[in-house]
Amino acid sequence: MRIALRFLVPLLLVLGGVAWAATPLLGKLIEQWLRADVEMRSQLVFESVQDTVVRNAKDPGGGRIDGLFQSVARDERLLALGLCSPEGRLIYHSPTWPRALECPRRPADKAASAPSFKVLPLNDGTVLTAAFALTDEDAELGHLVIVHDLSFIERRSAKLERYLTVFLAALGLVIAGITVVVARVTLRGWVRAVRKGLAPTESGGTADRDLPSDIAPLVREMREMLRNLDVPRGISDAIRVDWSPDTLRALLKSELPGAEVIVVSNREPYIHNQEGDTVRVQRPASGLVTALEPIVRACGGTWIAHGSGSADAQTVDRKDHIQVPPEAPAYTLRRVWLSEEEQEGYYYGLANEGLWPLCHIVFVRPNFRASDWAQYVAVNRKFADAVVAEARSPDPLVLVQDYHFALLPAMVRERLPGATVITFWHIPWPNPEVFGICPWREEVLKGLLGSTILGFHTQLHCLNFLDTVDRFLECRIDREHGTARTCGQETLVRPFPISIEWPPSALAGQPSVPECRAEVRRDHGLAPDTLLAVGVERFDYTKGIADRFRAVESLLEHHPEWLGRFSLLQIAAPTRSHLAIYRQTQDEAEAVAQAVNDRFGQGDWRPIVLVARHHEPEQVFTLFRAADLCLVSSLHDGMNLVAKEFVAARDDDDGVLVLSSFAGVSRELVEALIVNPYDHQAMGEAIHAALLMSPEQRRERMHLMRTLVSENNVYYWAGRMLLEAARLRKRQRIEEQIDRVTAPFGRRRGGRR
Ligand code: F6P
Repeated sequence: MRIALRFLVPLLLVLGGVAWAATPLLGKLIEQWLRADVEMRSQLVFESVQDTVVRNAKDPGGGRIDGLFQSVARDERLLALGLCSPEGRLIYHSPTWPRALECPRRPADKAASAPSFKVLPLNDGTVLTAAFALTDEDAELGHLVIVHDLSFIERRSAKLERYLTVFLAALGLVIAGITVVVARVTLRGWVRAVRKGLAPTESGGTADRDLPSDIAPLVREMREMLRNLDVPRGISDAIRVDWSPDTLRALLKSELPGAEVIVVSNREPYIHNQEGDTVRVQRPASGLVTALEPIVRACGGTWIAHGSGSADAQTVDRKDHIQVPPEAPAYTLRRVWLSEEEQEGYYYGLANEGLWPLCHIVFVRPNFRASDWAQYVAVNRKFADAVVAEARSPDPLVLVQDYHFALLPAMVRERLPGATVITFWHIPWPNPEVFGICPWREEVLKGLLGSTILGFHTQLHCLNFLDTVDRFLECRIDREHGTARTCGQETLVRPFPISIEWPPSALAGQPSVPECRAEVRRDHGLAPDTLLAVGVERFDYTKGIADRFRAVESLLEHHPEWLGRFSLLQIAAPTRSHLAIYRQTQDEAEAVAQAVNDRFGQGDWRPIVLVARHHEPEQVFTLFRAADLCLVSSLHDGMNLVAKEFVAARDDDDGVLVLSSFAGVSRELVEALIVNPYDHQAMGEAIHAALLMSPEQRRERMHLMRTLVSENNVYYWAGRMLLEAARLRKRQRIEEQIDRVTAPFGRRRGGRR
């Protein structure tokens, strides 16, 4: 329709203009032509009656002339005839002679024999008078006046104008119709050729064969543009970039200029707590916060999170904003307030009693309650409202974090269709059988597919997700490119193994390794030469803390030479203690630690030192530096950043990492001693091997692991996602342009966001 109008409107305008200008001209022409015709008829009438009139002019009764005039004036257009005396008096006339008409005066300069024509407006219309001189043997008899009705000329002109306008309009429509059909056919052919030219061939390239010569250069140009979009990815894959806050800032500036960054997570990066009369700032024990905080510090923007601290409300401004980090503000933290009921249903209920055990295969039964789901939906909407309220542009970069916000990506997309939504799922994604347990599996999947990019830690989690989508939704899955397309919208599903900042800020100002060793042993009542293993986590049942203790038990049982010489210092921050399973986890771990200590402890020496309290990152780093080995025995873990932090803390290239094969990080830190945490004896043997490992081997392994973490740091993690986002944004803009140009001629392509 649009294309037809594009041709029709100008054509009709032009033809209308032509009609408007030409009609009066044509009218005039026709008028002159008809008038000449009437004049000629007057002449003919005169010639045919002249003799009779002359012969009877002197007839005293004039009866013949009257009769003659009456019969001649019967002609339709000939109105009247009259005979005027040389003095200008009307002597004879037909009965039709208009009363208002006097004998017309002949102009003085006219030759006596030449007729004189005049157009006169009368009441009943316009008339043409033709006056012919009558002579009889050179005696002047007067003149014969023939009156013709001219109103038919006006009628004819009006009719002609109407016909002409209708004709031109019809002509315009026919021409426009033919043009539209020809243009459509031609352009459709071009669009088909362009699309064919842009589509990859089976061999992965593109073919120039079959391209019409007038299209080939355009297709080549478009191909080049699209190819250029893949360059940043190619570069980032091919060239070793030192990823740092500066690299990230430069990337944002060059690849996503002016992009507004909005992060959404449940856990906030800074918690203000009231302690007596003072307000203390706490940094939570959260892998998510550890990874994201340096990114937002580098990029700036707004971080939206639940304000969970007892002094949070009193430290924000009117808009619930606070600038953080407190010591050097670099971004805005926007706090969202949740009622007890909301926290109960959304956080403890659906997120931590439903999705958390569902996604971690540790044989804890997930619980799904409809009331929790209602709160989960409502809180996701509340955070989506906050995103919309904070967005200053129609196309922000929204970084959605974790399983608390599975519905938020689609909610944001609905309200901010121009947004680029990058969702990162920080925990594992199970296989379709397991995920199918969730009563709201379709809703969760559709919510996540509102994302432009959906990231997991490992390729296995990506494949599990795509299989789940394939199982439960109508969707087009491309496993090779890692995409899922539903309702014409595409989500890129990719592994982005999360990491930590490098160099870690908690390392700054740390005492030397020997000093840390001495300090930690002293602080925990351990002998200066104790060989020390450390474990640092939240008291979560997925972390395998009790299993780790049982491994120590097995070690001491099978290698009593370590009695009195080796201890495990376990730091565990209480977490989600509101839930019974977490209290049980802590109780069980404490009971196992007690049992092992009771069984093997001697004097002041205890094999397990369990400290159940939160430690700030600097304290944790001191522990890592003091340790001989670090135990990470997660039963299932998305990534586990403790392992990477341990490696980052060891700038002396020493220390051994004993690492669960069920933590995502084991795919990267392959130089660790990889263990099955369910096999306590094997884990005990791994600890034994770690304690006996030669300094050279320790250094070699640690060096390789440090190289990997320093290169694949958290700026690299974020950088890869942002590059991907930039590439998709550019590609989408080009595709939108192509669609805008080609849409009138054919079907649109499904939108890639
Ligand atoms: O792994 C999921 C996760 O959100 C982590 O990012 C974080 O370490 C942990 O859970 C924190 O849990 P919470 O915020 O419930 O204390």
